Amino acid sequence: MPDARLTLDPHFTVAPVSRRVFGSFVEHLGRAVYNGIYEPGHRTANEDGFRQDVMDLVRELGVTTVRYPGGNFVSGYRWEDGVGPREQRPRRLDLAWHSTETNEVGLDEFARWSRETGTELMYAVNLGTRGVQEALDVLEYANIPGGTTLSDQRISNGSPQPHAIRLWCLGNEMDGPWQLGHGTAEEYARLAGKTARAMRQVDPALELVVCGSSGANMPTFGHWERTVLEETYEDVDFISCHAYYEPKDNDFASFMASAVDMDRFIDSVVASADHVKAVRRSEKTMYLSFDEWNVWYLSHYDDVEKVTDPADWPQAPRLLENAYSAMDAVVVGNLLISLLRHADRVTAASLAQLVNVIAPITTEPEGPAWRQTTFYPFAITSRLARGTVLDPKIESPLMSTALYGDVPMVDAVATSDEAAGTAAVFLVNRSLTETVTVSIDAGTLGVDTLRSADTLHDDDFSATNTLNNQDRVVPEPNKSARIDNGTVTVTLPPVSWTALDLH
Ligand code: AHR
Repeated sequence: MPDARLTLDPHFTVAPVSRRVFGSFVEHLGRAVYNGIYEPGHRTANEDGFRQDVMDLVRELGVTTVRYPGGNFVSGYRWEDGVGPREQRPRRLDLAWHSTETNEVGLDEFARWSRETGTELMYAVNLGTRGVQEALDVLEYANIPGGTTLSDQRISNGSPQPHAIRLWCLGNEMDGPWQLGHGTAEEYARLAGKTARAMRQVDPALELVVCGSSGANMPTFGHWERTVLEETYEDVDFISCHAYYEPKDNDFASFMASAVDMDRFIDSVVASADHVKAVRRSEKTMYLSFDEWNVWYLSHYDDVEKVTDPADWPQAPRLLENAYSAMDAVVVGNLLISLLRHADRVTAASLAQLVNVIAPITTEPEGPAWRQTTFYPFAITSRLARGTVLDPKIESPLMSTALYGDVPMVDAVATSDEAAGTAAVFLVNRSLTETVTVSIDAGTLGVDTLRSADTLHDDDFSATNTLNNQDRVVPEPNKSARIDNGTVTVTLPPVSWTALDLH
C-alpha cells in the first residue's frame, strides 16, 4: 500500500477562508426555479410558493451567496418582466434554453427566498441584449430605499426594504459564441467598463464582477482577460472564471485529476490580472470569482437534450438533470480543495447549480427533495473550513493521466481556526485502484483530538442517489483514522474524499 505524508504548520498560511467561496447559482433554466425551488402546490410551499423542504436542504448545504438569474438566460432577460402583479407578467421566449419563461418568479420573490435561506443574493445584469440603462434601472429598483419611480415601484410591489445587493455580475460568459449579444473582447470590455462606471455613480461600494472566459479551452482565453481588464481594471473587483468537467472517452484517471486543470486555470487568470496590474502600475489586486464550477455531463446536453424545434418552447423542461456518482462527488470535493488552496485570490465562487439543474439537490414535483452525492463534500467543507487556509506540504505517490501527465495521487488542503482551537483537513485519493495511507503531521497546530473522520467512497464508483434509493452514497466514518501525539494517520480507499475535524 503506498504512503503519503502531509505536514501542516500554522505559519504556512494562504489567506483567510472567504465564506463567499461556498456560493451557488440558481438560473431560470429547466426545473431549477419552476418545480425546483418554486412549486406553489407542494405541501411544504410557503406563501411565495417556495418549497421549504428545499430551503432546509439549502441551509444544510451551507451555501453562502446565490448567483441569479443566469447564466445564459440573463443575456435575453428583461428584469422588469419579473416584478409587479404576477397575473400581469408576460410570458416570453427564453432563447438560451429554448423554453417558455412565465416570469412567476422574479427579483422580489428571489430576494425573499435569499433572505429566508440566509444566503447573499449575487445579481447578474443583462449585457447581451441590453446595456447601461437597464443595469442602472434594476440597481435603482433593487437598492434605492425609496423616493424615485423605480424604488417606489418596488415598495408598491410589496418590498418596502431595499434588497441591498452588493455583488453584481456584468453579464454572463460574453466570450461565448452561444451567448446572446456575444461580441469581441474589445466590444464587451467597452460595455462592461461603461456599465461598471455608471453603476458606481449610484453606489461606489458595489462589488462588481466582470466576465472572464467561460473556460480555459476557449480560443480567446488569455487575450480576453487581458483586454477586458485593461479597460475595466480600476472599475471592477473580480474577474469571473467558469469550468465544468466530465469524463471523456472513459478516461477516468484524467477526470479524477480535474482539479489540476482548475489549479492551472486559476494560476493563468491570476497571471493575466497581475500583468495588467503591472502595466497600469496599479496598487489594486484583482480577485477571482469562480462563479460557475462543477461536474457537468455537457456532451449529453449537446448530443441528446438540446431542443431547437421552433414549434416547441416547453415550460420548465427537465434539462441538465445529471445524476451524480460517487466519483463525481470526489471530483467536486477536489475542486473545492483547489478553490480553497487559492484563497488569496479566489474570494468568491458558485457551485453551478443548486437545485435539479446540475445540482446537489434534486426534487420531484409533489414529491421529496434529496441530496445528490455531490451534496456531501460541499456541505461538510462549508461547515468545517473555518479561519485560515493553510498550505500543506504534500508528499504523495504519483499517478499518470492522459490529460495532465503525472499528478499526485493524494491532494489535500487544511484550515485552522486558532481562536476556536479547531482545524480541518480535506483529502482526496485520486487513484482508481490504490489504497493510500496518509500520515499528517499536525503537531504544531496544537490539536490532539480527532472529532470525526468522514470518507465518501463507494466500491461501485458509478453509484448514485436516486428517488428510490436516496441514501445509496453517503459519507461514512473512516474507522482507520487515529491521532497520536499530533500525528493523524488515515487510510484512503481509491476514488475517495475525506474530511478530518480536529480540536
Ligand atoms: O450552468 C449552465 C450554463 O453553463 C450557464 O447558463 C452558462 O453560463 C454556462 O455555459
